[in-house]
Amino acid sequence: MPDKSKYDVLIDIGRRRGLFWPSYEIYGGVAGLYDFGPIGVEIKRRIMMEWIRFFIHRQGGLVVEIESPIITPRMVLVASGHEEHFTDPVTECTKCGRVFRADHLIEEQAHVKAEGLSMDELWSLIREHNVRCPVCGGELTKPRPALLLFKTEIGPYKGSPGYLRPETAQGMFVSFKQVFNVARNRLPLGIAQIGRVGRNEISPRQGLMRLREFTIMEFEFFFDPERVEEEAGKYLLGPILDYKMNVLTARDKARGVEEAKTYTVRELLEDKIVSTPWMAYWMAIGNMFLESLGIPPDRIRFDEKLPHEKAHYSVQTFDQEVYTEKYGWVEVAGYSYRTTYDLGRHIEYSGADLMVFRRFKEPRIVRKKTIYPNPARIKELAGEKFGIVMKRIASMDKEELLKTLEEKGYIVIEDVKLGRDAFYYKEVEEKVHGEKYIPHVVEPSFGLERIFYVVLENSLVFEENRTYLKLKPSIAPYDVAVYPLLSGSKREHREMMRIARGIAEALRETGLNVYYDEEGSIGRRYMRGDEIGIPYAITVDYDTLKDNTVTIRHRDSRMQERINIDKLYDRLLELLGRRIDWRSLSRRII
Ligand code: GLY
Repeated sequence: MPDKSKYDVLIDIGRRRGLFWPSYEIYGGVAGLYDFGPIGVEIKRRIMMEWIRFFIHRQGGLVVEIESPIITPRMVLVASGHEEHFTDPVTECTKCGRVFRADHLIEEQAHVKAEGLSMDELWSLIREHNVRCPVCGGELTKPRPALLLFKTEIGPYKGSPGYLRPETAQGMFVSFKQVFNVARNRLPLGIAQIGRVGRNEISPRQGLMRLREFTIMEFEFFFDPERVEEEAGKYLLGPILDYKMNVLTARDKARGVEEAKTYTVRELLEDKIVSTPWMAYWMAIGNMFLESLGIPPDRIRFDEKLPHEKAHYSVQTFDQEVYTEKYGWVEVAGYSYRTTYDLGRHIEYSGADLMVFRRFKEPRIVRKKTIYPNPARIKELAGEKFGIVMKRIASMDKEELLKTLEEKGYIVIEDVKLGRDAFYYKEVEEKVHGEKYIPHVVEPSFGLERIFYVVLENSLVFEENRTYLKLKPSIAPYDVAVYPLLSGSKREHREMMRIARGIAEALRETGLNVYYDEEGSIGRRYMRGDEIGIPYAITVDYDTLKDNTVTIRHRDSRMQERINIDKLYDRLLELLGRRIDWRSLSRRII
């Protein structure tokens, strides 16, 4: 075990092997911005593919994916409430002028929780605990909210302000009706998006944990709140109800409990810990997703947010956290019940109809008041304008007309003031087949770079003579490495290289991602592959030349098996967990 922390080792591997490093270093770097190198990009993409598999492909049409722009007209983020609420409290040093995030500074120096407190509350804590500038010790100003949106101008025009999106979610809300129509007007429907977002964080100092630009993988799950039991019930069946998760509830937190308890999905529902069954369903899938990336279940928990810790759009939020050596529990995903908030606001601000139609199981008979013009009275009031006034009334919406008369007591048409007595009223029975409503939304939202870090930290293994990444094959940067032995006669050497290159090429043709390395001792090459988490290595050696066999070396156990080249591909599929037992699957069908 090296004397360095896992974090330090990862920073070293990150830079040396091309996983990640701070951006723009030749210009001094910018806090909160990171580059991903060739190996980092591969791992990130595979984590993303796993997410797509869990939340989109395996859900059989329940969730679909879109892509919308990063550049967002200001009005969208005014409507969403971000321009008003998406702020962090900042405080300034009166001596050196440096600006800090007030709640973080208080937590660091006073060791009290400060997230979500008001400016006045933070100011009291700063004075009570004599919180000072961490750089020069100067006094601090009263905290003020600082907007986290990156501002821009769209085109070379004045008056066309925009922001970089702080979440991909608004793209799904704004285009909800379009996607709903494409998806044949059916709910429930999840609309997913994976993309970059920008948040102008105040002095980010936590590496990949707090970035100013990062990748979100999230979906808005739209559903009918009146049909939630029956619709979610189709998914909350069988083993998923007995699936266990660690949850620190708001109830427990309010009583000072700090440890999460383990609940089955059934208990979360029966104890009404989650406010809608869909939340429980997606939390379970999200837990399975993190477990599939190799995070042990006891290092995953849900932290239910207290009212002051939640975002402005949420009535209930669970952060999904993973335990790390470097940062303790870190949030990698949030599950928010956004109800009708976003669609309601976009209806209000854009005037667009973002409601959907709920068809009743049986038509309902409703009694309705309706309205007819009283020609005799209108003639008296309108005189020679009688004809045109009657024509206008005929083209008007009767419900609107009735509403105006009930609210104001009169209506003016063609400059003629018509009171209630200019109309007859009648109660009628109408058969109604359905009604319009605003769908509710549950949102699972994942930060890809954070997942990347927690996966790496949880995969890092120190052994006596080596350090390696025990990545699951599904998210390793390469499926397999191919190495020719480099010793022997010139002819043997040439022949081994020819075969090794041939194996690498053939495996690439099958769709596997193959790493090929013919430099350095075989031991060193194994180490290099292990360090970036390649799960298997094929070695072409002298015996290959005699009997067409190669070795497959297993990264974790370092065990080697010999196999004929003919059988290599099938064996690799088996080892990588991609060989499917179609017989047992088909037995379920027939
Ligand atoms: N859309 C969730 C978030 O921005 O955190």
